[in-house]
Formats: sequence, structure tokens, C-alpha cells
Amino acid sequence: MNKIVFLILQSVLQLASNTSLRVIKPNVLALEVTDLSSSEVLLHCGEQVELEDIHWERNGESISERGNHIIVTIDGLRGGNFTCHKPNGELLNYKLLVVHPVQFPRGGILTQSDDREFVTCTAKNYSGHFHCSWRWHRERSQRAIVYFSAIRNSSVLNCTVDADISGVTCIDMHYCPYSEESRSINLTLLVRNLYRLEEHHRSFLIRDIVKPDKVTFSKIKDDVLEWHPPETWSFPCSFFPLSYEVKVIPNNHNCNFTGNRVEQHETNETYYMANTRKAYTFCVRAQDPLTKRAWSDWSHHHQKKHRHSSDQ
Ligand SMILES: *[C@@H]1O[C@H](CO)[C@@H](O)[C@H](O)[C@H]1NC(C)=O
Ligand SMILES: *[C@@H]1O[C@H](CO)[C@@H](O)[C@H](O)[C@H]1NC(C)=O
Ligand SMILES: *[C@@H]1O[C@H](CO)[C@@H](O)[C@H](O)[C@H]1NC(C)=O
Ligand SMILES: *[C@@H]1O[C@H](CO)[C@@H](O)[C@H](O)[C@H]1NC(C)=O
Ligand SMILES: *[C@@H]1O[C@H](CO)[C@@H](O)[C@H](O)[C@H]1NC(C)=O
Ligand SMILES: *[C@@H]1O[C@H](CO)[C@@H](O)[C@H](O)[C@H]1NC(C)=O
Ligand SMILES: *[C@@H]1O[C@H](CO)[C@@H](O)[C@H](O)[C@H]1NC(C)=O
Repeated sequence: MNKIVFLILQSVLQLASNTSLRVIKPNVLALEVTDLSSSEVLLHCGEQVELEDIHWERNGESISERGNHIIVTIDGLRGGNFTCHKPNGELLNYKLLVVHPVQFPRGGILTQSDDREFVTCTAKNYSGHFHCSWRWHRERSQRAIVYFSAIRNSSVLNCTVDADISGVTCIDMHYCPYSEESRSINLTLLVRNLYRLEEHHRSFLIRDIVKPDKVTFSKIKDDVLEWHPPETWSFPCSFFPLSYEVKVIPNNHNCNFTGNRVEQHETNETYYMANTRKAYTFCVRAQDPLTKRAWSDWSHHHQKKHRHSSDQ
């Protein structure tokens, strides 16, 4: 009976104020609002507490509403943590009520990266591991992740949140690098700062987010430089080829330098002979030649002006 009253009240309240209430977790509710007017929300302390005389606190301060079901007024983006207590003050339950302004531009809580995305995902190889990261807005100090999921073909992937809460590491155990990847991974991230919620989505295939690690040099002798594919790259090489971009740059410039004195070359080999007798910087980076997506970061070696090998 109480449940029915609750449901009716809930729908009346929602109709009245043009907002909707979304249950994110049993204790976390998001009020989705389209403007900043105030709205009323029905809160429920818990099932097994019907007979108790219940009182409530909002963010630790006593409020006048009493009982298992209460109606609270939410002004603008001011949500709160509502706790319900026995008459002796003992905590029974809590409801964290966050406000989600659905038509506001996002960016108040996370900031965009250089590629204008809020969430960036990369994979170092075709093992099914990938990593997604984001940047918190500098001034948001009450930040938290409210919800995260990565789903492919209705299966939830195994993800762990990084210690600094600025990323997640996931594994798709069913991912098979030898067959065509037809369904995308759908990612949902809900973050909050204090009681305001922001929602982010990404959808991608592993093959589109692969970015090899940096290569490491194995041998540098005279002007011949050799390197290994990144240690984290998938093997065998015959199935997972890598191609390389090589640059020989006049000294003291970084690998991004372009100009007509730059020697630039693409190769599938893991060595290169620099053809210059002046001091130079040698740069190399790797890319999957089959998908031609992200390049690795550059690896570089500064070659000092070396001994004169011949007079010409
Ligand atoms: C809300 O209150 C409960 C109970 O005191 C507490 O466990 C929880 O951490 C609080 N959450 C936030 C976001 O303040
Ligand atoms: C998606 O899941 C269904 C049911 O679990 C399965 O039959 C199907 O083969 C899966 N598709 C792919 C592309 O993995
Ligand atoms: C999820 O990944 C973690 C860390 O890699 C691992 O310890 C755990 O067993 C995995 N859980 C499942 C259900 O596969
Ligand atoms: C995943 O995202 C794509 C593109 O946004 C969408 O078409 C698809 O329905 C989503 N799949 C699931 C299972 O949510
Ligand atoms: C693939 O990359 C993950 C990190 O994303 C790493 O843990 C794993 O060992 C790599 N696989 C291989 C074969 O090196
Ligand atoms: C080179 O350019 C890339 C991409 O614009 C940038 O991320 C990187 O920091 C630059 N490297 C240096 C050494 O300036
Ligand atoms: C490198 O290999 C790829 C395929 O693995 C091929 O398409 C490309 O033409 C090769 N490039 C060179 C410079 O040999």
C-alpha cells in the first residue's frame, strides 16, 4: 500500500515540475532538470523502518520533515546528502541527491583535451586491455566518480578505477584480435562535484584507439640506429606489423620540428642510417600500418657532432 502511494506521489511530483528522477544506485539519485527553477522530490528512507519515528538531516543539518517518506525542495543545482535517523540519532540510511542539468553545456566538472574530447581512450596493443582518462576542472575539489561502465554486446567489461580517479583500466576478456571487431564498446561516465552531476559517453572499437608505446633504441653505432618494437606491442610481428616514421633533425630542435633541413622517412625496418655529418637529433615513432590510427609518441636520441670519418 505504501509503495503504491509512493509511486503515485512520485509521478505527480515529476509531472508537476518537468524534471525526472533517475536512480543511479540504491543510495544515489539524480534529479534531471532542464532549468534552474526549484522542484520537489520525494525521498524514501527504507523498507524495514515503517514503524519508526524518523527524522532527517540535509548535509548534516537537521530539517523539519519527518517520516519514512518526505518531500524536499531542491533549488537550482543545490542537491544534498539526505540522511534519515532513528529518534536517538542513529543513522538508518542516506540518499545522495545530485542535480543533473541536462541541457547545460558540459565542461563544468571535466575539461576537454586537445582533441576536444572529455574522455580519451587508448590501447597499447590488441590484447583487449584499454585505458580511458579525463581531466578534472582545476577548481572542482569535491569531485567524485558516481558511476562508470564499459559495455560491449550487452556484457559489462571488467574495469578498475585508477588511484587518482582520473582514469580507468579495462579488459575485454572476450576480445579476439584475430576476428573482425563488429560491435563497439560503449562507455558511460557520471561524475559529480559536490551535488552537481555531469554525464559523458564514448563509443569506440579497440582497433580505432590503438596507440603503440614509444619504441626503445637497442643499438646506436656510428650513424646506424636500431630499435625494438614497443615491449607492449602485440606479437607475432607477422600478424601485428608496425611501421615507423624516422626523422633526422638539425641539433637542438625537438621531434616536432619541421623544415627543409629535416630528413624524413617511412620504413618497415627497425634500423636507419642517418646520412649527415653534422650533429643531429634522431627521432622515431611507430604506427599500425593496417589501421593508420594514432602514432606513438616520439623516441629521440641526440647525436653529438662526431669525429671526422673521412675528408671529402
Ligand atoms: C552521505 O552520507 C552518508 C551517511 O553519512 C555517507 O556514508 C556518505 O559518504 C555521504 N556521501 C556524501 C557524498 O557526502
Ligand atoms: C553478442 O552476444 C550474443 C549473445 O550473447 C552472441 O550470440 C553473439 O555472438 C555476440 N556477438 C558478438 C559480435 O560478439
Ligand atoms: C577484473 O580485473 C581484475 C584486475 O585485473 C582482476 O583481479 C579480477 O579478477 C577481474 N574480475 C573478473 C570478474 O574477471
Ligand atoms: C552503443 O553506442 C552506439 C552508438 O552510440 C549505439 O548505437 C548503440 O545502441 C549502443 N549500444 C548499447 C548496447 O548501448
Ligand atoms: C598489452 O597492453 C597491456 C597494457 O595496456 C599490458 O598489460 C599487456 O601486457 C600488453 N600485452 C602484451 C602482449 O604485451
Ligand atoms: C609535439 O607535438 C605533440 C602534438 O602536438 C605534443 O603533444 C608534444 O608535446 C610536442 N612535443 C614537444 C617536445 O614539443
Ligand atoms: C610497410 O608494410 C605495409 C603493410 O604491412 C605496407 O602496406 C607498406 O607498403 C610497407 N611500407 C614500406 C615503406 O615498405
